[in-house]
Amino acid sequence: MSLRITVIGTGYLGATHAACMAELGFEVLGLDTDPKKVEQLSAGVLPFHEPGLPDLLRKHTSTGRLRFTSSYEEAGAWGDVHFIAVGTPQKAGDHAADMTYVDNATVSLAKSITKDALIVGKSTVPVGTARRLQELVNSVKTDSLNVELMWNPEFLREGYAVRDTLTPDRLVVGGGSADAVATLRQVYASALSTDTPFITTDLETAELVKVAANAFLATKISFINAFAEVTEHVGGDIRVLADAIGLDQRIGRRFLNAGVGFGGGCLPKDIRALQARVSELGLDRTMRFLSEVDEINLRRRERVVHLATELLGELDGRTITVLGVAFKPNSDDVRDSPALDVAAQLYSAGAEVSIYDPEAMNNARSRFPRLKYAESLEAALQGSHLTILLTEWQEFSALEPQDLEPLVESKAIIDGRNVLNPDTWTDRGWRFESLGRRSVPALATSNSLS
Ligand code: UDX
Repeated sequence: MSLRITVIGTGYLGATHAACMAELGFEVLGLDTDPKKVEQLSAGVLPFHEPGLPDLLRKHTSTGRLRFTSSYEEAGAWGDVHFIAVGTPQKAGDHAADMTYVDNATVSLAKSITKDALIVGKSTVPVGTARRLQELVNSVKTDSLNVELMWNPEFLREGYAVRDTLTPDRLVVGGGSADAVATLRQVYASALSTDTPFITTDLETAELVKVAANAFLATKISFINAFAEVTEHVGGDIRVLADAIGLDQRIGRRFLNAGVGFGGGCLPKDIRALQARVSELGLDRTMRFLSEVDEINLRRRERVVHLATELLGELDGRTITVLGVAFKPNSDDVRDSPALDVAAQLYSAGAEVSIYDPEAMNNARSRFPRLKYAESLEAALQGSHLTILLTEWQEFSALEPQDLEPLVESKAIIDGRNVLNPDTWTDRGWRFESLGRRSVPALATSNSLS
């Protein structure tokens, strides 16, 4: 009989996982304690932007292969494999991860399980969590049942969530008996049929793989952004530098795009939670470099505000257009968005900030209602003293000065993502600033010296 899969928590990770498991042919039950989400998802409506996911959701809710519920009793009685996909946000006023949701979900589920089952954690958690949860499960489950717990971190990227789930570049599985591992091989049979690496390990390594991957990516971005601070100082082009070092295959060019830095629901909170966890373990110095990674990242936002002040003389009373507030393109997510943070800082300094983003307006508005949200790109640019590109949506990267000139008050632009060609803009009389690219005067040739 085909495995029945439940997914506990239907946020970004859970909703994607549930729909993709249905796409792979399993019967799936998604569980969320938020009745509104359950209602929306059951009706085939996705409450966030993710390319390709609405189609999968509609397709599988309409046949009944994918259902949603708020009932742990229903999930516990029905499922064979239960994925835990609830959030682990940063605690308020603390760098550590808030484990309330993971703990509550696991205990509620374990109490409700009425047949032998496998619980598979997907959430990003501090090392040691899975072992602690297994003990919790053992203490609340029905004695006669075999309920194992494994950890199977998720590496999906927003904007590519469906692709990353259906065809991951690796599968990592921690803990579990040989039978439990075999069950997960069944779940991932489709990916395994194309030779996707399947790494089996202990619970701790599996937990650490996820945070190590995100810490490495964050470090790579801050590494190049630290060099951007240098090229801003001495002159130079950070993109050429990234291209040149990226050609060394040991380094690689990906995640070396300098700009306003990283944000989102994962990288920032994961590097903070990792530091908090290793400090808790008594390894105070071990991850200290991640504080620098975080600081370099946040300094990039200040740099944009500084450049805006330099270009405008003062911010008070000036109209500034912010292009993009999502933390990255093809997403409506504004969690820890560098772009939205810069917009808010400019507003606090007295500027009138007019924002346009193709997808993230509603999320940004509910976080910062006092900023001005324009109805269109053109409306956002109208009468602007300064334009700042902060999220590299394709429609912004393709902008030409001629598109803006009839609308703006002043020809001044900051490219916060290094996607525009400076010459195109300066040739038409624009004042152009970017992060990490500053032209230096050509050296005098020996001829001109003689
Ligand atoms: C990340 C990880 O990539 C993914 O594997 C994990 O499962 C969740 O966290 P995501 O948060 O979707 O995924 O975004 P990602 O594509 O990693 O980008 C993170 C941030 O870094 C964005 O704000 C992006 O703009 C920024 N970034 C990325 C850069 O500033 N420069 C780069 O070169 C790459």
